[in-house]
Amino acid sequence: MTPEGLQRAARMLAGAHRVVVSSGAGMSKESGIPTFRDAMEGLWSSFDPQELATVAGFRAAPRRVWSWYAWRRERVGDARPNPGHLALVDLQAHVPRLTVVTQNVDGLHTEAGSADVVELHGNIRRVKCLDRGHPYDGPLPPYARGDEQDPPPCPLCGSPLRPDVVWFGEMLPRDAVERAWSLAERCDVLLIIGTSGTVWPAAELPLVARRHGARIIEVNPEPSELTHAADVFLQGPSGEVLPALVDAVAQARSRADRPPRDVPERARGDA
Ligand code: APR
Repeated sequence: MTPEGLQRAARMLAGAHRVVVSSGAGMSKESGIPTFRDAMEGLWSSFDPQELATVAGFRAAPRRVWSWYAWRRERVGDARPNPGHLALVDLQAHVPRLTVVTQNVDGLHTEAGSADVVELHGNIRRVKCLDRGHPYDGPLPPYARGDEQDPPPCPLCGSPLRPDVVWFGEMLPRDAVERAWSLAERCDVLLIIGTSGTVWPAAELPLVARRHGARIIEVNPEPSELTHAADVFLQGPSGEVLPALVDAVAQARSRADRPPRDVPERARGDA
């Protein structure tokens, strides 16, 4: 991240009316949440995503898939929002409209205090039944590492409960997609954070915003598939870059509110 890049991004955000944040797994890295691929470690390393994250995989081995998600749910329950999540909460005070559209299923943006969050891939803390999608918010059995558990039955229809996340081959929640796309079409600035830009349709969101005239800022320690579309690339972990960026936005806004001190009176307003 260069100071010039940071200032440029801060000026874009300070002048924006509608901002959309598009976040991915890197956003939660500093909260200790493994990415999907990192979560396929240890006990689970011998499986592939088709076995652990598809309806067919769940039907073939419900105990295994339920237990993998029970283990991940426990880890998410222990995790806390990191300074990047908290900086986005602070950013709400500096832009009139801010919506976070996330691919993450950990619920940490909401836990941090972001007021408007669109979850494109569901939420691992919620469960619903396999056959009818009945939501279930009652107690679930605690998970001990190494355990295998059967998915509990839905109290309404008896079909097995499953995580309320979008598996490979499933449709994204329609309301979430419609809202995210309509916001992307109308925003002034879209901030891409911690995504490789390889999972569609989420990866299209910044491109939609760009086509409709938005400026694009990206935060990531590494270039991604979307870096080519960014006006400003702020290289670094989001837990460090975002607090610095939000400070710079606050300063840019307070400078804009004050007449410049070192300019003679007559020259002001000439620009
Ligand atoms: N801060 C910001 N970005 C980071 C950090 C960090 N501290 N650490 C890593 N990253 C970046 C990586 O450089 C990479 O570009 O986060 C990105 C993570 O990429 P992926 O694991 O591919 O995550 P994502 O783009 O969200 O796609 C994963 O799998 O589980 C599903 O719903 C999930 O659709 C999503 C997909």
